[in-house]
Amino acid sequence: MCGIFGCVLKNGVAAPVVHAALKRLEYRGYDSVGEATIHEGRLFIKKDQGKIDDVHAVHNLDNLPGRIALGHTRWATHGAPSQVNAHPHTDCQNQIAVVHNGIIENFAAIRKELEELGHVFRSKTDTEVIPHLVEEKLKNGLALPEAVREVTRRLEGSYAIAVISAKEPDKIVCARKESPLVVGVAEKGIYCASDIPAFLPLTNKAVIIEDGELVVLGNNGYEIQRINDRNQVLREPEIIDWTPEMAEKQGHPHFMLKEIHEQPLCLRNTLRLQEQYLDLMATFLERATEVYLVAAGTSYHACLAASYMFSKVALLATHPVIASEFVEQHGKAVNIDSTILAVSQSGETADTLAAVECARQRAATILGLTNVVGSTLTRLSRVYVCQQSGPEIGVAATKTFTSQLSVLSQLALNVAKRRGKISHTEIEDLEEKLQQIPEIVEKILKTQEKKIKLLANKYKDKRCFFFLGRGISAATALEGKLKLLEIAYIPSLAYPAGESKHGPISLIEPGFPVIFICPKDETRKTIMGNIMEMKARGASVIAMLEEGDEETKRAVDDYVEVPRGFPEVLSPIPYVIPLQLFAYYVAVERNCDPDMPRNLAKSVTVK
Ligand code: AGP
Repeated sequence: MCGIFGCVLKNGVAAPVVHAALKRLEYRGYDSVGEATIHEGRLFIKKDQGKIDDVHAVHNLDNLPGRIALGHTRWATHGAPSQVNAHPHTDCQNQIAVVHNGIIENFAAIRKELEELGHVFRSKTDTEVIPHLVEEKLKNGLALPEAVREVTRRLEGSYAIAVISAKEPDKIVCARKESPLVVGVAEKGIYCASDIPAFLPLTNKAVIIEDGELVVLGNNGYEIQRINDRNQVLREPEIIDWTPEMAEKQGHPHFMLKEIHEQPLCLRNTLRLQEQYLDLMATFLERATEVYLVAAGTSYHACLAASYMFSKVALLATHPVIASEFVEQHGKAVNIDSTILAVSQSGETADTLAAVECARQRAATILGLTNVVGSTLTRLSRVYVCQQSGPEIGVAATKTFTSQLSVLSQLALNVAKRRGKISHTEIEDLEEKLQQIPEIVEKILKTQEKKIKLLANKYKDKRCFFFLGRGISAATALEGKLKLLEIAYIPSLAYPAGESKHGPISLIEPGFPVIFICPKDETRKTIMGNIMEMKARGASVIAMLEEGDEETKRAVDDYVEVPRGFPEVLSPIPYVIPLQLFAYYVAVERNCDPDMPRNLAKSVTVK
């Protein structure tokens, strides 16, 4: 997830406007930045790796000539953060510049085709195919808008792009497919951006560009047309009544709630990962003698859930290990036949890196799953997969957890196919359900949020909570507990439900809140027994249950419904959403700051 910006000013110099706008988009990505302007028939570019302030200190991002400009702040997906991989990207003649947010899935094939035509590529990015494709179209005499329209019809994946050409120095051409794109209309000029915060201090008149639309920005305003039939689209600006701070959160009061609502989009991104890296990683897992899934905190909960997925789907035994204990627990046993799959959204967690380093020194194979391209984990890994969740600002991991689960389940499916351990029908069924996950999560957010808010108000003063689940839901219970504990500061416990009668049940007294994660799967019968045990001792039982599960609804005090028909091995993704929302609303009810909980850091870089 990157931030793009463009502006056509009536007068004056655009670069300082772009620089300021990129600062307002920096929460979208901050590993490299760049600007391009057109002046007197020439293209001017400044770009480099690093945060905006650092790059500005070296290159002065305000000092480019011209009143037409593009800007980009990057969150690397393809090609590690570096100056050559930073945007804008240009064509062979440095006449065309492009900024892009999204993923071009078929870039490798297009690149090969263009290289055969003699194009020379400078970067490792997917984006760079766009200016070279536009170059080809302009060579055939097309005008820039038509050239961009034709190019977009070649692109598979997601994109919001803005394109300028020194040969047509009076316009910016933008197009959108899935990645967000908005236009800002002001007296002094016209702007395009990934998000409203970018131009909000300049104008509160915004035009949302829809999927499959192209818009031309020029001195006389903007013109929208549909890409597939060139039909013009008339759309008036909307008045936005947000403060810039609110806008960065897309109208949500906190980054955490915004990120919870971003999960459908992030999950769609995880379903577009580059097959070859998933295949490569699955090859190593399939060949492995022993597999350790190593991580900390929420990422460890993803590993625990994954151990159920690998076992149930691929019949592959794996060892989920808490990173800070790896060296003590397995340091001596790990060897050249061991494979470590280290999971870390930041890719910088010291405990996880220490475990990886210990295993590396014993010649083990290191695989990495992270959200940050260029992070230390990517450099220590033989193969790594980037989960494409975009920057997560809230300290409490939410969207990165469900994205990790989606990637790990795809890996388990990939290994299952290689091992031929489950039938094609089962594989196809799981793949189909995986594709449905984003809509399912969307439905839960739409239909259950209000109810969860009321539940949070009802239970906000409780002094301790139990989270219980069986099978893979034990991992969901642990994650639900961590969210409530870390942002609402309520001491809470989570157990595999079967374990509760071996001690924890002694805590139960009338009104003690117990949250059950109980999808309708093989664990159903036994979990009903656990619910009755708790009810018999006066507990207040809240169940995350399957839509239409009347029997459980009758047995509990409160419940939240999750759409039915979800295979058990994928259930942690939909079932954790209500727990994230519950923790968030309890924290807000208790006046805790969900984004910056006390004593915590987003990335724990000390052991
Ligand atoms: C989760 O909400 C916490 N922020 C924390 O437990 C986190 O999951 C842990 O520090 C691991 O971080 P990582 O995924 O970046 O390695």
